[in-house]
Formats: sequence, structure tokens, C-alpha cells
Amino acid sequence: MNAAFRSSLFKLLDKLPSKLGYFIYHQLQRLTPEDISKKVKANQHSYDVIQRIIQSTGLNLTGSKIIEIGSGWMPLMPYLLHYQGGAKEIFTYDLNHHYNRKQIFKLNAFFEQHLGIKILLESDEYGLPDFVDYHPNTNLIEADLPNEANFVFSRFVLEHVRPEDILRMHQKLNNDGSDDLHIIHLISPSDHRAYNDPSLSLLDFLQFSSTEWKRIQTKFDYHNRLRLPQYLNIFEQAGFEVLFEEHTGLDSKSKQFQLFKQLHIHSDFAGMTEEELCAGAINVLLRKKK
Ligand SMILES: C[S@@+](CC[C@H](N)C(=O)[O-])C[C@H]1O[C@@H](n2cnc3c(N)ncnc32)[C@H](O)[C@@H]1O
Repeated sequence: MNAAFRSSLFKLLDKLPSKLGYFIYHQLQRLTPEDISKKVKANQHSYDVIQRIIQSTGLNLTGSKIIEIGSGWMPLMPYLLHYQGGAKEIFTYDLNHHYNRKQIFKLNAFFEQHLGIKILLESDEYGLPDFVDYHPNTNLIEADLPNEANFVFSRFVLEHVRPEDILRMHQKLNNDGSDDLHIIHLISPSDHRAYNDPSLSLLDFLQFSSTEWKRIQTKFDYHNRLRLPQYLNIFEQAGFEVLFEEHTGLDSKSKQFQLFKQLHIHSDFAGMTEEELCAGAINVLLRKKK
């Protein structure tokens, strides 16, 4: 779906009564088997990133209890964390209610056929195996969290959360989590419209004032546009230290760098270096300050 069409579609859905808008949005998210294969591959990559970060700091997922912020459409990360990482239980929370039994049945069939892992559809509403504890329609900020969790993680969620809520979320994790709780976030801070339109810069949205950006986006594609130092400030403010941080940058010979150089960055982002503005694919590991 091209970027302009996608934006117009979201604008249209945003004008409908919320229930109807979300219903159509969910129908559009229905997956074909090829989509499942692509999603498994992408989540496998994220799982490998998480394992690399965790192992580099001497930690281990085996037998752990993990909180996922933002379950999304399928229990893909919970499956990988359990079957490959040996995690004991995954508590997964989402503001919305995207899981459904039919999709989970398809995902289980894919795991059996392609990965040789047999997951039986259970008798509960979603058919989930008992190591996945799903909490739909639940804002993590207001949830009753399991206090024995060892890890919290999110994948491509924080960029869609309002800055003040990212702070509240981390203050809550600091208050309610155990002293050795570790948090991993995989953050995609780029302009998502550019994923569907290679002529757009990944930093295109930095041209706009916040009022202009509010006019362009909808509740279906909200992006906070926070830059790397702003995320790090929020984590620090909530009482966390950054044990590990990595991000990608723009190669000065790439077409993306040329596109970036043509932009007039809005004064809201003044004072940041080129590296700070362009930092993409941010991965962080946080721990409570001692
Ligand atoms: C872009 S999706 C990513 C989903 C999934 N992690 C993935 O990688 O496919 C972001 C998800 O985070 C959820 N979300 C955003 N803020 C949240 C919050 N405060 N508590 C729980 N879920 C949240 C949204 O409802 C949405 O399903």
C-alpha cells in the first residue's frame, strides 16, 4: 500500500465512529500465509537482537518471566521467547484487542509446518498455550503487573506512545518492578510513511511543527517523533540507567542521507546533532539505578 493512499485511508477511518473505524482497520490487518512467514522472519530477527543484548551483559532468559508491552496481532515474540529462549511465562499487554483464535490457529500451523514445533490450540477464548498470559484492552500504565517478572520488553511500541506516557510507564515499572528488573526496548524512530515510499526521507516528519504533524497523522498511525537523546532523558528521569544502547546511522553516501540533507528541519529539533536526529533502529537495555 503506497504511503499517500495509506495516509488517506487512515484519515478516512479516523472520521468514522471509533468502533467502526477500528473494525475496518482490523479487517485490513488480516494476514495471508505469506504475511505470516514475513512476520515470523522479522520477529526472529528481533528475538536474535534481544538474545545478543541479553547475553552480552551476562543475563539469561531461561526460566524467566517476561512482560511484553504491546502484544500486537499475534503471540510471535512470546512463542520465540519460550520455544527458543526457554522463557517460562510471558505476560503480554495491549491497549487494543488484536489477537483472535483464527489467526492463532494459522500461526500454530505455520510453527508446526516450518519450524517443527507443535502448538495445540487450547480451549480458552484465543486458543493460547498456557505460557502466554494475554491482557488485551489494558494500558500497561494502569495494569496490575506480576511482581516476579525478570524482564520487560517492547518491540516497535514506544515510538507510538506519547512522551508523558513513556515517562509514566517507566515510573510505574520502577515502582512496581523488582530491583533486578531489566527492560529492553526495540524502537523504530523513523518516519513510518517512508517504509512504503522510498522517495520519502526516513526523517521527513522532522520538517513539521507539532501542530502540522498532528494534522497529518491519525490515531491509527500516531508517532511521537522523539529522537534518541529525548528517549534517554525520559529513561533517566524515571530512575533507570542505560546498560546498553545501539542505533543505526545514515551512510553519508546513501540516497537516504541526500534526502535528509534536503530537509528543512523544524526548529523544535534545533540543538541536536546530525547523529542524534538520524539515529534509527534504537535498541536499549535498562536497569533501575542503584
Ligand atoms: C506497532 S504495534 C507493535 C506490536 C508488536 N509489538 C509487534 O512488534 O508487532 C504497537 C502496539 O503497542 C500497543 N500499545 C501502545 N501503547 C501501549 C500501552 N501503554 N500499553 C499497552 N499496549 C500499548 C498498541 O495498541 C499496538 O498494538
